Amino acid sequence: MALKINLLKLKEYGRVAEIRQDVVNVTGLTNCMYGQLVKIGEASKGTIVGFDADYVLVLLVKQGAPIKPGDAVTTTMDDFRVPVGDGFVGRRLNALAEPVDNGGPIREDATLPIFGKAPSVLERVPLEEVMATGTKIVDMMKPVGKGQRMLIIGDRMTGKTTVGVDAIVNQRGKHVICIYCCIGKAEAALAKVTEVFDQTHAWDYTMVVAATASDPMGQQYLVPYVATSLGEYFMYTKQRDVLMVFDDFTKHAWAYRQISLLLERAPGRDAYPGDIFYIHSQLVERAGKLNQARGGGSMTHLPIVETQQGDVAGYIPSNIISMTDGQIYMSTPLFSEGFKPAIDMGLSVSRIGNKVQWPAMRKMTGMLQLEFVRYKELEKLTRIKAGMSADVEKRLKRGRVVEELLKQDANHPIDMEDQVLTLFAFQNKFLEGVEPVDVKPTIERMLKYIKTQRADLVDALIKTQRMTDEIKEGLNEQLTRFRDTAV
Ligand SMILES: Nc1ncnc2c1ncn2[C@@H]1O[C@H](COP(=O)(O)OP(=O)(O)OP(=O)(O)O)[C@@H](O)[C@H]1O
Ligand SMILES: [Mg+2]
Repeated sequence: MALKINLLKLKEYGRVAEIRQDVVNVTGLTNCMYGQLVKIGEASKGTIVGFDADYVLVLLVKQGAPIKPGDAVTTTMDDFRVPVGDGFVGRRLNALAEPVDNGGPIREDATLPIFGKAPSVLERVPLEEVMATGTKIVDMMKPVGKGQRMLIIGDRMTGKTTVGVDAIVNQRGKHVICIYCCIGKAEAALAKVTEVFDQTHAWDYTMVVAATASDPMGQQYLVPYVATSLGEYFMYTKQRDVLMVFDDFTKHAWAYRQISLLLERAPGRDAYPGDIFYIHSQLVERAGKLNQARGGGSMTHLPIVETQQGDVAGYIPSNIISMTDGQIYMSTPLFSEGFKPAIDMGLSVSRIGNKVQWPAMRKMTGMLQLEFVRYKELEKLTRIKAGMSADVEKRLKRGRVVEELLKQDANHPIDMEDQVLTLFAFQNKFLEGVEPVDVKPTIERMLKYIKTQRADLVDALIKTQRMTDEIKEGLNEQLTRFRDTAV
């Protein structure tokens, strides 16, 4: 009779030999694998990150009690898995998917490996539905598709987190599961984000998976993988659309560099280890849109990267630019000029293009960026030259309206239909002659007017996502009345 051994149940025992900061050298584990979870003593956990001639190298992930040489190390022949399930929505979790929010234990529906496989080419389909971010410049000119990977990149304090967080806030009522993954940011910065979620009732569909700057390096390294696994449960098992924000990958790269230096791996460019490209691409490859046979779910990634003095050619920024499908570039000069969100349209790009947009939107945004760029150039020229022709003055005025129209407050995402209506009013010259300071209140009043007078038109627009002749006619009529009553 053949003897059946279940490898998954096979337990191994080792001993701690030496401790070097977050790395523990272990002896006695002869059958273990890279990436496996190990238990050290009763209360601590780690993951296997390497081997040398004498030891298995274990990165500490959770330290429950001080670790001493001689402590017992146990492991099973299984890859590193975390619990996942419906109950995780609305909770704050750590890098082991454990709740850290006084909400009590969470019932798990399954476990998933943290280094999950990316969907294969055959399992994916082209992106065709828009992931509405609620940020006008993005939705109008650099649209994000469901399943896309769109990088948010910029210097410190340029509004990167705000664009990501607003995209989450904007998913209210849209049946999207959102995950905000905090990597190595200060606890205070995370508190600001969770406060926004409190105020906007975003917790109904959002979870926060966080390893802040005060958490162990191992957790900062693992947290984006764990967050992605939590999202994969919803994408694969629940056939849902998932939106993930990683804030930010720069800190993730730092954590990984520090771990690699501790492990005495040969440092490469900027002291990063040679596999730094691999560890990020392995993550963003897990995003995508699945075909019907796999359930049709999707996972959209919005990784954030911080640059130094706007240098997108730096090692980590250029790596991540090359592995995503576009970037939203946030600029310090624009931010200080008061153009917020400070998105540089010239340096931002969506490689998916406008095919995911509502047809109604696509028709109107073609010339918008060009118009804005021309206005900016004209403005620069006329700053030095006095005496302008009437034509130039008119073009400047129109440009100023576009500029005001594109500005937006933090944490106030705008619905797609409102964006379309605003553009329609602008293109049909209903905003002509409005003073720049009045643009925002006028648009607000105008949208309210249309919605109270002809809610059916707005509903039809949402349903068809197109600007039919009927809708156009109705809107023109309402906008004319609105303009006449306003004067
Ligand atoms: N559209 C906006 N309108 C007004 N204020 C904004 C806007 N976007 C961001 N801000 C403000 O600018 C500040 C910086 O924003 P945010 O934290 O999003 O930037 P960041 O680039 O993520 O910064 P950090 O480098 O610290 O992570 C915040 O105080 C935020 O409220
Ligand atoms: Mg930030």
